[in-house]
Amino acid sequence: MKIAIIGSGNVGAALANNWLKAGHNVIFGVRNPDSPKTRKALALIPNAVIQNINSAVSASEVIVIATPSDAALDLVPLLGNPSGKIIIDTTNSIMKRPEPYPTAYHALKDILKHEEIVKCFNSTGFENMLNPIYKLSLPGNPEIGIDMFAAGNSRAAKEAASQLSKDCGFAECFDFGGDDKVELLEKFALSWINLAIMQGHGRNLAFKLIKRTE
Ligand SMILES: NC(=O)c1ccc[n+]([C@@H]2O[C@H](COP(=O)([O-])OP(=O)(O)OC[C@H]3O[C@@H](n4cnc5c(N)ncnc54)[C@H](OP(=O)(O)O)[C@@H]3O)[C@@H](O)[C@H]2O)c1
Repeated sequence: MKIAIIGSGNVGAALANNWLKAGHNVIFGVRNPDSPKTRKALALIPNAVIQNINSAVSASEVIVIATPSDAALDLVPLLGNPSGKIIIDTTNSIMKRPEPYPTAYHALKDILKHEEIVKCFNSTGFENMLNPIYKLSLPGNPEIGIDMFAAGNSRAAKEAASQLSKDCGFAECFDFGGDDKVELLEKFALSWINLAIMQGHGRNLAFKLIKRTE
């Protein structure tokens, strides 16, 4: 897939790293190619392609928003007409939100009148996006992929997000529900943050859905 990642920080760089390895065509869309975050991304991914946001979006089929959520309002004029493209919103409105909207998802969907949008890659830490494989402390130390979750009404956007999750190394991308579950998926991310940071369990933890088979 041709993917524009808007934002070259922790999340943008982690996803780009894995998608490039999986053979996708990735372009970072940034507002300032010389910013410390872009330089850090370049150190991780020396062959990264970096363009201004408008050019990156024009050249891509999938647009991944990996900025603070309130930046969604600044991005609207730069995204142009995203008709025919899929938008993946990785943001969480924790400290700030794109007022008056509760999330970047709601802002982009409403202002751009764009249906093909999904909330995904928001529910775990960026370290888990870089390496979603965990070695279990069970006999033989088996390795398992952790899970990803996607919310929103668009089936096409969810299918793309699911494929891109698996291309990153996630085991499954579970359907978390429609537009009415987007805010719940942000709360789910807040639950990860609560466990990892506020309760002190550390960022090397992840959600894995298990189902009884018998
Ligand atoms: N960190 C995590 O583990 C994690 C996990 C899940 C979801 N998230 C969510 O993912 C999003 C990105 O997090 P992050 O940790 O990757 O952040 P980050 O490292 O701070 O990177 C943010 C990126 O967004 C760009 N940006 C900021 N404001 C912008 C604007 N107005 N227009 C265009 N670009 C702008 C920054 O560009 P400059 O370099 O020019 O400042 C930078 O490249 C956040 O919404 C966060 O809640 C984070």
